[in-house]
This record gives sequence, C-alpha cells and structure tokens, in this order.
Amino acid sequence: MLQLDFTNAMAARVGAHGLTEDEWTSALGAALPAYDAVEKDAAAGRLGFRRLPAQDTKSLAEYARHTASLFENLTVLGIGGSALGTTALASALLHPWWNFAAPEARRAPRLFVLDNVDPEEIAGHLEVVLPERTLYNVISKSGETAETTAQLLVFVDALKKRLGDRWREHVVVTTDPAKGFLRSLATREKLASFPVPPDVGGRFSALTPVSLLPLAACGVEPERLLAGAATAEEKGRETAFKAAALYTALYRKGKRICVMMPYARALRDVADWFRQLWAESLGKRRSLDGREVFEGQTPVKALGATDQHSQAQLYNEGPNDKMIAFLEVGRFRRPCPIPPGWEDDTSAFLGGRDMGDLLSAEKRGTERALTANGRPNLTFRLEGVTPETVGGMLHFFELMTAYAGRIWNVNAFDQPGVEAAKHATFALMGRKGYEKLAEEIRGETPAQEAVKLEGF
Ligand code: PA5
Repeated sequence: MLQLDFTNAMAARVGAHGLTEDEWTSALGAALPAYDAVEKDAAAGRLGFRRLPAQDTKSLAEYARHTASLFENLTVLGIGGSALGTTALASALLHPWWNFAAPEARRAPRLFVLDNVDPEEIAGHLEVVLPERTLYNVISKSGETAETTAQLLVFVDALKKRLGDRWREHVVVTTDPAKGFLRSLATREKLASFPVPPDVGGRFSALTPVSLLPLAACGVEPERLLAGAATAEEKGRETAFKAAALYTALYRKGKRICVMMPYARALRDVADWFRQLWAESLGKRRSLDGREVFEGQTPVKALGATDQHSQAQLYNEGPNDKMIAFLEVGRFRRPCPIPPGWEDDTSAFLGGRDMGDLLSAEKRGTERALTANGRPNLTFRLEGVTPETVGGMLHFFELMTAYAGRIWNVNAFDQPGVEAAKHATFALMGRKGYEKLAEEIRGETPAQEAVKLEGF
C-alpha cells in the first residue's frame, strides 16, 4: 500500500550527510524501547487515535446521505486540526476542480473550509456563498476556540436574518461529546451534532467525524478511509516506526528542517496537514521528565514540480540542513496526453507522452540532483490515490509521529506553547476572567516605531 524508500538517505548514496549502516543500525536499536512504550500505551487504551479504524460511522454516513446532500454548499468552520485534515482529504479525494464542477456531475455540495478569521475572507464568503443554501459544519474539539466561535457567530447571525428559527437546520456541530461551549450550545439549541472522542486531540482527529462527516457529505465513504487506516494499523506500524527512527537519525545529524514534497497535486495538502502534526507534536521545550530540551524539526511543505522553480535551488545548494521526503503516486487517476505539436526540438519530445510521465520524470530528476549534491532524501510511495490509501497514509503519519514523540522523549499529544497566545487573544478581546492579563498587556512597553516608507 505505502512504500518507504530511503536508499538516498544513506551515506553510500549521499556521503557524509547520510547515515552509515552503523549509524542506522544503532539509531534503530536505540529507538526500539520507544516502539514498545507506544505499543504498551495503545494496548492499555491510552492512545485514542489507534482505536479510530474500528469506529462505527453508520449515523454519520446516514446524516451525510440524507441531510448534508440537500445543500448546495457545505462550509466548514474550524481551525488547525479541525480543518487541515478535511482540506487534505478533500484535495486528495474529490475532483481537482470540485467546486467548479456542474451540480449534476458533483451530486453533492461544494466544499469550503474556512480556517481563519480574516475579515475579507469571511465577509467575502458570505457575499458569494448564500447562507440559505449552505450547511455550516462548526468543528472544534475543545468547543472553545475563539476563531471558530467568532465564525459561528457571524454565520448564525446571517442565517437568523434570512431564515429566523430555521437557522438550526443549517448548522451541524462536531465537538467533544460532553465538554465545552459548543457541546452545550448543541444541546441547548437541539442542533445536529457528532462527537470527537475525548482522547483524540485536534491534529490526530482527521479520521473522526471532524473530517469523515464533510467528506461523507461529498460522497467519500468513511468506511473506505477507515479500512485504509485499519491496514496501516495492522501492517504499517513497523514501517512507521522505521520512518520515525530515520527522521530522528537525520535530525540528530543536523537536518533541522524536513521538507515534504508531493509530486501529485492531490497530496499537496497532506503535506500541509503533516506540517501541523509534526510541528505541534514534536516542537517542545520540555522532555517527558521535565528537562529543558527545545526539541523540534521544522516541517516545510513544497510541491513538485511547482517548487522546482522556487525552492529546489536552495535545497540543492543552500545549507545542508534539510531532509527531503517526496510523496509519489504509482499511477494518476486521469491521463492527460500531451498531443504532438510542432517539429522543433523544444516541443517535439513532449508530444505523445503524458503529463504524468513528465511529472514523474521531474521527480526523478530532482531526486537525482539532490542525491548528487549530498542532500539526504526519501520517498513515500502510494500505488494510487484512493480513500483507502489516503486514509492509510494519514494514520501511518500519525503512528510515525507518536513513535517519534517517544523516541525524542517528548509529549506528542499536548501543545502548551500555543496556550500563551490564546490567552493573550482572550484578554485583548475582553473575555471575562482575563482582566488581569489584559491589564498586564496594556502596561507593556509599546513596540518601537516602525521604519516608515514614504509613499505607501
Ligand atoms: O492539535 C490541536 O489540538 C490543535 O492544533 C487544535 O486542532 C486547534 O487549536 C483547534 O482546536 P479546537 O479543535 O479545539 O478548536
């Protein structure tokens, strides 16, 4: 299903920046106790995401078939782990121009994921995506996130103005089964709702109703995504562990940046989703035993072939502080033959080939150049892009992250570093209980005056 080829991460291929056989053997050996610790946690039921492949999705699929499909649009309100998985899965599994396809061809709503509070983006969405034809899926694991609550307030107000009490028919909530503002709102207002398992955190929640519901509304069967995840759970653990050990060994060898570079537009947003998973899970000040460690490898996303014309120069000749992971697909779902055109040397060689051949050749060329330049790189290869393979891939990367957390001896499941900014936002926006912090912030020395550029 998913193959990992790391030949080009080894010293035999890339010289001193790669791993020698001895380094690799000892990295794997040193990591083994972490594998056992994660498996022990999973067996004791302490890792919620490991149980997701076995979840029951009947009511969710039913809701998607009967209710969500009645709408012209489905707009997801959420941020971070409540949005990125849906975008990744939608880019991978829906038609590449889904929202532009004719309704008869789509036979399901257009899908929008609003993962920010940019006023122009939100107000603009209201102007062109009519609330009376839209189902809003408000998603927040905690049920308390300010960005998501603000979005909800805007859209519920618009719905009330147009539909009065019928606004409720246009909102479906995905949140914790018992706690938080969204859960109590759903109960109080009798809104349709779906639970996120309490022990599954935001960035590990793509294969819960968080993404399963919007994808099901667009015709992707949740069972197929979960079947892929079940395969990864059953057969992919050792490879995921190896990948975690490999990333670790390269990180310890100075590869402070890991680039994920899909050579398939369908997987572009998987790299974006992975960016959050790897950064938020492993970027930690303290180890599990409380020491200051400041661990973290910076994940960067790139896209082949687009970023060959933007980033590849840096990856090949800049500081050798990166490892590059390609995502590759064995076969594309749509052919796009390049017709023969003119007889001149610049175009004739392309005619009669397929765009997929060109993209594959570009990947091979980039991989070769990086290897020749001593830049460690590896490839995750999917046979094809299907709900099973992509569901499996997300679960695989979650496993890999959990193993890496243990190898690095950090808590992969918390995010204390984002709390300070959250609280400051609450204080600045006047939330009750944050008055002291607001006072403190007001008392801080203002920033130095910025350099002014005349004429702007
Ligand atoms: O991984 C996480 O827990 C976070 O990145 C969350 O996904 C993000 O902060 C949004 O949180 P919530 O889903 O509670 O609104």
